[in-house]
Order: sequence, then C-alpha cells, then structure tokens
Amino acid sequence: MPKSRKRILTGDRPTGALHLGHYVGSLANRVKLQDDYESYIIIADVQALTTHWEKDENLTRDVFQIATDYLAAGINPEKSTIFIQSRIPEIHELTMYFSMYTSVNVLRHNPTIKSEAAQHGFKDITYGFLGYPVSQTADIAIFKADLVPVGEDQIPHIELARKIVRRFNDLYKPVLVEPQVLIGDIPRLIGLDGKAKMSKSLNNAIFLMDSPLEVEQKVQNAVTDPARIRKTDPGHPEVCTIFEYQKVFNPGEVEQIENECRQGKIGCVACKKNLASKLNLLLEPMRERRQKYSDRSLVMDILKEGTNRAHQVARETMADVREAMNINYFA
Ligand code: TRP
Ligand code: SF4
Repeated sequence: MPKSRKRILTGDRPTGALHLGHYVGSLANRVKLQDDYESYIIIADVQALTTHWEKDENLTRDVFQIATDYLAAGINPEKSTIFIQSRIPEIHELTMYFSMYTSVNVLRHNPTIKSEAAQHGFKDITYGFLGYPVSQTADIAIFKADLVPVGEDQIPHIELARKIVRRFNDLYKPVLVEPQVLIGDIPRLIGLDGKAKMSKSLNNAIFLMDSPLEVEQKVQNAVTDPARIRKTDPGHPEVCTIFEYQKVFNPGEVEQIENECRQGKIGCVACKKNLASKLNLLLEPMRERRQKYSDRSLVMDILKEGTNRAHQVARETMADVREAMNINYFA
C-alpha cells in the first residue's frame, strides 16, 4: 500500500488510568499530530507483561482503560489507528528475526533498561524484559513508521531501532524504514506532592477521569509556598507546585499571578480555585467524550477495527521481510 502522508507510531503500556502528565507529555501532541500524519497508536500489552507478568488479570481492564482515556483525550479513531500489540502475531515473528543479530551486551547497557530494572528492583532480569527494546523495534518497523514521537527516556530505544533496521536492510534487502525520533518540547509534569513527576504509583496525579470535585480537592490539598501563612505574606512562586501548573495550564494569567503572589495580593486558596477551574475547563470536553464511550462495546469495536487495520499493514510488511530473508516458502 503506497503511503501518501508520513506515518507515525506511538503508544503506551497499559498500566492504569492516564493523568495530566500523560496529557501534556504526549496525548495533546498526538491529538495534534493525527491531523497531519498517518497515525498508529499501539497499546503495548505484551510490553506491559515484561514487568507485570503475574498480574495478567488486570490486563483486559487496563487495555480498556487506556483506550477509553485515548478517546476521551481526543484521539479520533477516524484519524488514528489504535491497536493491541499482542493481537498482531507478525510483530512477535519480526521480534524473533531481529533478536538473532541483536547483541545481549548492547541491551544490558541500554540506560533505560538499566534504570527501569533498578526501579522495579529486579535482581535478575528476564529474557522478555531485556528484549523489550527489540520487540519495540518490531512494533515500529512493521509499520514502516517514519517518525516516533516519544519522551526522552525512549530515545535509547529509538536509536537501537534505527540500528536494528539498518542492519536488517544491509543483511537482507532494504525493505524496512529507519525511524526517526520526534521529540516534543514539553517538559515532564511535576506531581501534586511537588517531589517527583506525576505518576499513578506515587499517588500524586490528577487523572483525566477525575470529577470536577476531585480536581478541586486535589488542587486545594496540594502544598504551596510554606513561607506563606497569611494572604499578605509575600510568596515565592518558584517553590510552589501550583505555580508550576499555572505556567502549563494557565499561561495567559501566569505573569499576573506571579506578581500578585510576590506582593502578597493573592491568597493561595484563590490561586488554587483559579487553577482548578482552568483544569476543569480542559477536562470538561474529555468528560463529555468519555460519557459517549461509556458503552464498552463502542470501545471494543474501535479496538477491533484498529487492530484489523494494523494487522493488514503488518501482514504486508512481513511478506516483504520473509521474501528478503528467503523464508517465504509458500508464497
Ligand atoms: N515503551 C513505550 C512506553 O513505555 C511503549 C511502546 C511500546 C512504544 N512500543 C512502542 C512507544 C513503539 C513508541 C513506539 O510507554
Ligand atoms: Fe503558589 Fe499561588 Fe500561593 Fe503563590 S499564590 S504560593 S503561586 S498557590
């Protein structure tokens, strides 16, 4: 199938509800990109198993959760193909071929693998975990994706993907496309505790599915500048988490808020109210779309259709791959 527009591939492991950190870090960008690129979004359930293999009863729930979050956030199934990794067996076939010439030492020294292994407290790492960058390369290569919009932690994986693809094209036949990283310029969003990035496991997140009241309460409970006791105390926005959010979610008023905070003219309660209303303004259309997708069979149909479409592309690439490798016995 000839490609008219450039193709992008992105995705996530399904490990729970998406939050504002995901929204500013990648979802908002994906929503924009789907207008200009042929866009594929992978729900990497097999990759989730590389760290969560014993919790597989949650996987179906998490796949639906992330698909619904995507749709609520504005991923349009008419423009983007959302699909499930495990249901495309050709990805796993291609992973196997790539693994024949990919060095174990190179994988062991991959900085993202190292830091994730430490994070999960793995003393011994499994074959599947060590090899997930190879599988991720197959995710990308099988769609002949030109661009992969990812965060910084994924760069080592895309570098590896480029090398694996280049090597394939040299060894066999140049049928695969070397992918390029498309980096968003949005920094990581800090969590409500102000200590680490927003993340579900740190319990410092505002979820896309939170109600207006939950958003208000979470914002009101966040710590601000500890030096401020009275409203008239001069504030230090640079140490305040709420101010970080004002910068991201309320850019039009941020200068005024900074001045009023420093001069003790605005109280934290009012500042937080203002922020919560901006967040709820952003989340409101997502709530409306989520309502529409509360019928699970709708989400199921979108996943089925996306996975079928993706499967067709994967089949076509694999026909080329097998031919290039001289293993297309029955063609
Ligand atoms: N590794 C990505 C994450 O941790 C998920 C992912 C799997 C992915 N396959 C991909 C991202 C292919 C981009 C391209 O979220
Ligand atoms: Fe933070 Fe706003 Fe309070 Fe200033 S007024 S310390 S920016 S919450």
